[in-house]
Amino acid sequence: MLKLKLMSNSLFRTKKISSILSEGGDDSHGGGGLKRVLTVRDLTFFGIAAILGAGSFSSLGGAVFNGGPGVIVLFIITAIACAFTAFCYSEFASRIPVAGSAYTYAYASFGELFAWIIGWALIMEYSIGNIYVAFSWSDYFTSFLSKIGLHVPHWLCTSYAEAKAAVANSGNPDDIDAWNNAPLLGSLRIILDLPALVINALITYLVYRGIKESRNFSNVMVMLKMAVVALVILVGGYFVFSNGLTVNWTPANEQGVHSFMPNGFSGVMAAVAGVFFAYIGFDAVSVLAEESKNPQRDLPKGMIYSLVICTVVYILLSLVLSGAVHYSKFSGVGDPLAFIFEKDNLNVGWMQFFVAIAAVVAMTSVLLVFQMGQPRIWMSMSRDGLLPPVFQKIHPKYKTPSFSTIVTGLVVGLPILFTDKTFVLDFTSIATLFAFVLVCGGVLLIPPKEKQPGKFHLPYINGQVIFPVIIFGAIALIVVFAKQYFPAMFNFDFSGNADYMQGKISFMDAATPNISLIIFWLMAIILAFAAFIKKYSLIPLMGLITCLYLLTGMTKSNWAWFLGWLAIGLVVYFLYGYKKSKLALGESTAPVTEQHDGSDYLKKFED
Ligand code: ALA
Repeated sequence: MLKLKLMSNSLFRTKKISSILSEGGDDSHGGGGLKRVLTVRDLTFFGIAAILGAGSFSSLGGAVFNGGPGVIVLFIITAIACAFTAFCYSEFASRIPVAGSAYTYAYASFGELFAWIIGWALIMEYSIGNIYVAFSWSDYFTSFLSKIGLHVPHWLCTSYAEAKAAVANSGNPDDIDAWNNAPLLGSLRIILDLPALVINALITYLVYRGIKESRNFSNVMVMLKMAVVALVILVGGYFVFSNGLTVNWTPANEQGVHSFMPNGFSGVMAAVAGVFFAYIGFDAVSVLAEESKNPQRDLPKGMIYSLVICTVVYILLSLVLSGAVHYSKFSGVGDPLAFIFEKDNLNVGWMQFFVAIAAVVAMTSVLLVFQMGQPRIWMSMSRDGLLPPVFQKIHPKYKTPSFSTIVTGLVVGLPILFTDKTFVLDFTSIATLFAFVLVCGGVLLIPPKEKQPGKFHLPYINGQVIFPVIIFGAIALIVVFAKQYFPAMFNFDFSGNADYMQGKISFMDAATPNISLIIFWLMAIILAFAAFIKKYSLIPLMGLITCLYLLTGMTKSNWAWFLGWLAIGLVVYFLYGYKKSKLALGESTAPVTEQHDGSDYLKKFED
């Protein structure tokens, strides 16, 4: 009994904020003597550099295919969820202005086990997310090459899994062609996405050599991609109106019914992984805490400004895409922004060219941000003893975390051979949402702090009454105005199920309850009671509930894969981190030596 209690105490051992800060930096210098140079404008640009990439240039196509023009509703819901979460990130960042992001925050609030889980989930966001970006980069790069007359065979620019799925579901013709014309090695078809592999190798090499992603360089990339996105909106929008295509905003679905949401709200929710993916990246701003002039004040501004700008861009882009081409034509389209200008659609050749170049630039900046972010998180975890010391190892000449960078390259590169885009998109989104849930929940748990002028403070709005009113009000409105919602959630209406009606199958077999929605509503009710009792702050509560709601859009197989991933993470933790944690050993978690603490690498981020 005593042993169990001791174990549970150590699982939830938290790292003191004061000790994190003493490792992280002082007022004028960040960790490892970094100069604080970044302003709100830099942080906003950095946010856009990380946010605007494969989501807008690639996954938007699938999102429009699922949700039709109505997908903009999901963009708004997701933006609200992300904005609440950004406030929570900012609250943490203002208290713990050091690198390490959600992982470090969880260590201070929930304790070690949750910190580890978040660190483990963030691998999905940073590394697995980059697999999707690399695939999308390849889509646009090959589309660009074909514009200048160089045609890469389809079997060399798609993934094996995607080609196989296309044959099974009569999907994208290019993927079917890849399957049919691939060279054979024995009975194995050689199908691989070579450009995706090459760009990953290149980015890994650049990060390994210590590319200085200076502010100016990244700002130029951001300006270029914003300019081209604006051009797509203006030119595309012009054609939508001048060609009378606005009818596509209420398109006919398969049953011939015209609607803004041709596949209903469930179709819109089916796009959640793609839409959420488009927003991932604003949280990466928080890893720059050690380099910003005034992180407490500027980080939240940087995150919120970049979120607002990207939300406006997404809404306009969704309207242009769904107006330019009937939503049903976006199935399997990996380069939707170029696709709408193709011959069979708006037929504007020069735009395809511009878009392809901008997409390649946009996605390169996302790849760089995430590929550099991953080793930083691993370094933080290694400093805490949760990963082996080799993860902090700094290359003697290039001053970069050589080992972590190579591992990141492998974690991104190897799955490119085995996975497909949809799988990695879902996986990344579910894990990142999960991390967001923990960040919002973490803010509820940390004690209130005294106000200091000039620093960010999450405004405290007492959620004691407002939150329960929102939850129970929503339930009441649903019961009155959407009578079928709750019965459908439990699937107690079996009148359409002939086998059940004829007594061939049991009640249990006939019922296919929507487990995620049931869990969501149960959690909402529990949170409403907790808010009432504990007077929780409204903003993190809203962040928590909106992120939980987005999680209901994930499929059962997404959950199965994600839970499997978490289970592997727990095994790794108990085999290594639990025993080696610096907190467990009672050691300081301060950097080991000048050469090995990673501070030189962090300096690379300076101008
Ligand atoms: N939001 C980032 C992108 O769309 C991950 O590429």
